[in-house]
Amino acid sequence: MAVLRTLVVALAVANTPTVLARLLEPDVFQISAFPACDPATSSGCIEGGKYLVPELDFGNEDGTGNNAYIKYLPNHTFTTTQWTNGQWPEICRNISVNSDNWSAADFTVYNVTFSDCSVPYALCRHKNAPKSLNQIEIARIPIGMRQAVATYIVYPDDTTNNPAYGGYIGTIAQSGVVVGKSTAYFATALVHETGHAVDTVLVGPMPGVSAFSGTQTWRAAVDSDGYAISAYGASSGYAEDFADVGRAVLLDTIFPGGLAAWSGNNQNLTQIAAQLALFKSTAGRYYVTGGTCDLAKKYPFPSRWVSLGAPPTTTTNPATATPYGQCGGFSTYTGPTACGPGYSCTSLNPFYSQCAPTPLP
Ligand SMILES: *[C@@H]1O[C@H](CO)[C@@H](O)[C@H](O)[C@H]1NC(C)=O
Ligand SMILES: *[C@@H]1O[C@H](CO)[C@@H](O)[C@H](O)[C@H]1NC(C)=O
Ligand SMILES: *[C@@H]1O[C@H](CO)[C@@H](O)[C@H](O)[C@H]1NC(C)=O
Ligand SMILES: *[C@@H]1O[C@H](CO)[C@@H](O)[C@H](O)[C@H]1NC(C)=O
Ligand SMILES: *[C@@H]1O[C@H](CO)[C@@H](O)[C@H](O)[C@H]1NC(C)=O
Repeated sequence: MAVLRTLVVALAVANTPTVLARLLEPDVFQISAFPACDPATSSGCIEGGKYLVPELDFGNEDGTGNNAYIKYLPNHTFTTTQWTNGQWPEICRNISVNSDNWSAADFTVYNVTFSDCSVPYALCRHKNAPKSLNQIEIARIPIGMRQAVATYIVYPDDTTNNPAYGGYIGTIAQSGVVVGKSTAYFATALVHETGHAVDTVLVGPMPGVSAFSGTQTWRAAVDSDGYAISAYGASSGYAEDFADVGRAVLLDTIFPGGLAAWSGNNQNLTQIAAQLALFKSTAGRYYVTGGTCDLAKKYPFPSRWVSLGAPPTTTTNPATATPYGQCGGFSTYTGPTACGPGYSCTSLNPFYSQCAPTPLP
């Protein structure tokens, strides 16, 4: 495929089944960089890599999906208050400094309070992020989805001075965090990323402890379809497929005539009928516009704050990754590389390996 695409890759953190999707510089990675998806060796591979054809145009900022989001999703108003006490959320420090090697002194921290939710969001913004708070598209994300997030981290777009940061946008769902460079904060990327947060909310009390896309219920629906919704989902696994199905479900809600009309009556939509139906029945209520946040479901405002001047902490990782936990991947990965009995470290893509059941001979 010659067309450059935006890649989103699932990562996970040792010990917690964290879903962290990464959107990498399109000029660095191409779709062809994905490894062939072999179900015999990869538990994250959907049906031998089969996906809906023709592909839905919801992946890129200049696509018809993003245009529809901008046209039909209301842009909520918000107010911001800057923190001036020299502190920031510990989770911002952990990710921005410990993982992504930015300098704490370059961040400004805000409370952002949207018109549809009384509980503020924390936003940690690097001073060199070119997009202002008014230019990032968070305020368009429906509140049912947005309430699964508590913290946004916004980075510069120029990654050349920080090779440790790969240019991604991602979601660390268990921590209620969306993090990435400011130009990646466009509507369809945020719909996808926020979908990872919703994925965890579906299966447990807040903060979630795992993801609906990891259940047999979701896998069985996708497997019965026999197709992922996108090439990206097919090669990246059930969690990414789930987040991409969410894009389609939201388009179905907001676009006149629904998904069928938006997709130009893509005749193959039946190939993903089971996963669309299951998504709608489990998560569809969050993929609607209007309303206000549900305080019982709102991811809590970060409670642990540290000094902006505090030194980075180092983590001691367990020697063995948990079943389905991460055991290798991206250059910043420093966690365990061994798996327990019956599990083997299996590469899903260049950025993520997980402990999957060892295939029987
Ligand atoms: C529907 O999907 C099949 C299998 O992926 C593909 O061969 C076919 O071209 C698709 N149909 C249309 C109308 O694109
Ligand atoms: C969206 O709302 C924000 C805050 O109310 C505003 O600053 C921004 O200009 C709006 N964006 C668009 C595209 O209307
Ligand atoms: C931010 O919001 C939190 C939670 O509501 C509140 O305790 C804190 O005082 C606010 N900080 C600022 C700077 O507005
Ligand atoms: C930040 O990292 C430290 C060290 O790994 C950890 O103990 C702490 O729980 C993390 N904080 C949050 C909010 O995740
Ligand atoms: C982190 O950034 C510093 C400069 O700020 C640099 O010296 C160091 O090599 C970087 N570490 C990694 C892992 O890229």
